[in-house]
Amino acid sequence: MSEKVVVSEPEPELIVLISEAEKLARIEEMGVEIAADYQGKNVLLVGILKGAVSFMSQLSDALWKAELTDFEWDFMAVTSYGSGTESSRAPRIVNDLETDITGRHVLLVEDIVDSGFSLDKLVRVLLARDPTSLEIATLLSKPSRREVAVEVKYIGFEIENHFVVGAGMDKGQQYRGNPDIVYFPEG
Ligand code: IMP
Ligand code: MG
Repeated sequence: MSEKVVVSEPEPELIVLISEAEKLARIEEMGVEIAADYQGKNVLLVGILKGAVSFMSQLSDALWKAELTDFEWDFMAVTSYGSGTESSRAPRIVNDLETDITGRHVLLVEDIVDSGFSLDKLVRVLLARDPTSLEIATLLSKPSRREVAVEVKYIGFEIENHFVVGAGMDKGQQYRGNPDIVYFPEG
């Protein structure tokens, strides 16, 4: 009887850019800063699907520990890269909020700001709905890649131009669960 030989692709070696511990420590600091800024206010956290889910959850824990407990969650999605790694110049909203944000304090929660096209689009759309305030919190920012200026008030880490995965971020929908922020040797 002949045996079938299965040749599997070797898993690429990932390089840790920011460890889980460093990431969580920084999110804790962000929570303290944001909690101080919004003390006494009701806040609507708006997570940008899907990449921001993990950061949104960890930031919420940090806000709670910093005694900001009066916040709600909602989510939006813009067209993603698909399986590629290039930014879309004309992102579209594919999943809108359930919440009416008129008169609300809105904090957009994003995983990473790259070209800035997605957030630029979202900010325009949301400002047209008359929130009382609108700010952005992102776990990561790649300033060298920016093509549109977006005002980001809370930034976890500024990073070099690597395509990163983990901490909710993906490549072809994979790697979101890696608690460290990592990149591939070639990228
Ligand atoms: P931007 O519109 O180019 O600023 O990028 C928008 C989105 O692309 C980000 O919110 C991420 O979801 C995704 N993205 C950008 N850079 C990376 C990366 O290095 N790894 C994974 N996703 C990324
Ligand atoms: Mg994102």
